[in-house]
Amino acid sequence: MRLPKAGTIEIAPSILSADFGMLADEISQVEAEGVKMVHLDVMDGHFVPNITIGPPVIKKLRKHSKLIFDSHLMISEPEKYAEAFVDAGVDNITFHIEVARNPQRLIDKLHKLGISASVCLNPETPVETIKNVSPLCDMVLVMTVHPGFGAQEFIQEAAKKVVDVRKIVGPNVRVEVDGGIDATTTPIVVGYGADTLVAGNAIFGQKDRRAAIKAIRQSIK
Ligand code: DX5
Ligand code: ZN
Repeated sequence: MRLPKAGTIEIAPSILSADFGMLADEISQVEAEGVKMVHLDVMDGHFVPNITIGPPVIKKLRKHSKLIFDSHLMISEPEKYAEAFVDAGVDNITFHIEVARNPQRLIDKLHKLGISASVCLNPETPVETIKNVSPLCDMVLVMTVHPGFGAQEFIQEAAKKVVDVRKIVGPNVRVEVDGGIDATTTPIVVGYGADTLVAGNAIFGQKDRRAAIKAIRQSIK
């Protein structure tokens, strides 16, 4: 599968705040609430100071869920591991522009392998760095916190980059935001032009996932 076509607003619950001992159950809870995608945070302890999961866990999760697997590779060598993530069953790979050796080649490779390709910008990374490659992508991810941990404070200055990214990519590429997204910050980022909302603490960090997803949805209306 691939990412949903641009033109709709989608919520992508991030597993980082879920119970890692019960991931399949946790994902099925948000699937039952009608979200289309789940955001899988992959950290290598090198590009970011934290370690999470890799292809073997994703491969097992794939058997338990029909959701679109939106994988966010916070790893130093995305080219080296891309194929393993595709084999594990992800539908999208988001890699960081800060570490990609040849972003265009990686995007082409992911498309040839049949999945969506997305590029990500850290809060301090200028939008100019993705100017040439972003129109080739299915989605651009604008980090609204420094990657590595959940439940951090939303950085509004970083979120403002969504406006410039949207100008570059136009309406047919998704613009995703990740970090500190909840019912308060959602209207801000949607106003800037984001259409794909990653939320970890605001969904999996809450006991009542139904109410948590509902609150974000209502904040958009
Ligand atoms: C942070 C991750 C995020 C994280 C967001 O490095 O990329 O996906 O889960 O967490 P919240 O929504 O809790 O800020
Ligand atoms: Zn993420």
